[in-house]
Amino acid sequence: MVTRPPNENARRSADAAFPDGPPTWPLADDDVRAALEAAYADGSWGRYHGPNCERFTKSLAEFHDVDHVTLCCSGTIAVEIALRGLRIGPGDEVLLAGYDFAGNFRAIEAVGARPALVDVDPATWCVDVERVEAAIAPETRAMIVSHLHGGLAPMRRLMQIAAARGLAVVEDACQSPGAIVDGRRAGKWGDAGVLSFGGSKLLTAGRGGAVLTRSAEVHQRIKVFAERGNDAFALSELQAAVLLPQLAKLDERNAIRRRNATSLVEQLADVRLLTPVAIAAPPNEAAFYKLAWLVGDAHGVVDRTAARESFIAAAQCEGLAIDAGFRGFATRSTRRCRHATTLDHSRRAAESTVVLHHPLLLESTETVGRAADAIRRIVESP
Ligand SMILES: Cc1ncc(COP(=O)(O)O)c(C=O)c1O
Repeated sequence: MVTRPPNENARRSADAAFPDGPPTWPLADDDVRAALEAAYADGSWGRYHGPNCERFTKSLAEFHDVDHVTLCCSGTIAVEIALRGLRIGPGDEVLLAGYDFAGNFRAIEAVGARPALVDVDPATWCVDVERVEAAIAPETRAMIVSHLHGGLAPMRRLMQIAAARGLAVVEDACQSPGAIVDGRRAGKWGDAGVLSFGGSKLLTAGRGGAVLTRSAEVHQRIKVFAERGNDAFALSELQAAVLLPQLAKLDERNAIRRRNATSLVEQLADVRLLTPVAIAAPPNEAAFYKLAWLVGDAHGVVDRTAARESFIAAAQCEGLAIDAGFRGFATRSTRRCRHATTLDHSRRAAESTVVLHHPLLLESTETVGRAADAIRRIVESP
């Protein structure tokens, strides 16, 4: 595998993976444009309150089959206010995967609680359900479970353990809106579920988030916390306006992304340098905000960091939106968190994960095939 000078690679990519330029995000969408124009025409774009947040709240509740939805300004804040809604605070401990979004660790600290790290399942990048029970300590009150990089956490089993041990669960579906896990929408299983509408997300308003819950009490506590003479973490009318048409298309787009992700993983199945995320089998349905591989895991690669860096550089030169995954928490000091299990897979994920960003996954079969060829070329070049 070699890294070529950028110009040469740019020329190659024009001939190869994306002759018309790499896929971009957000999508050009006439329904989003119409929603923006309608928000302009009725003045809702400039108001605190209007029809769009109300409609979007109702649509999200129906889509997820939950009673209560709180719209808010980001997925990061959604996790924090979910923890507050579940009464997590000082003296409490919250289980968290050793490889997860950095803001989730901070959200636990923000409410005054302490993270306790559990290793991930290397096949799914999600918390390893087999390690959870033994990780629970007397002060453990809750668990954050994220569906990451196209992997799905086994929510039915996790909720059974949580119920038996009296833990509250925040289910983080920021990377997997619309996914079906054990017969329910991702985000519906947890005592609180969270979504993100950030600028790169599958449902995007540039920024934004939501908390879903079946509990009127949790919902009310979140509302009281957010009330500072005004709704301190609000989503705007304009953001809700553009999210409505995207939610209506989410299932259809997720199905296309799922088909293309599966095809890409299959086309690269014999590439030994890359170990893909295990794509959930029907009736589960994954949603792909990112599609993950480990680089060099099953390949006897000695310097995995270097192997990943040169793979990413070469992929980006081909126009592929491939980056390193999260940094994870396995190296965080035990002053800040408890290492509740060994964290070997979390450490490995932090060192070796690469993620493909989702826009490619809405492209044609031919384009996805060309992307697979480009990845193979990178890996096989001497
Ligand atoms: C798993 C996970 N949780 C939470 C978030 C936070 O979402 P936001 O960027 O809207 O704050 C992200 C963002 O990427 C995420 O990947």
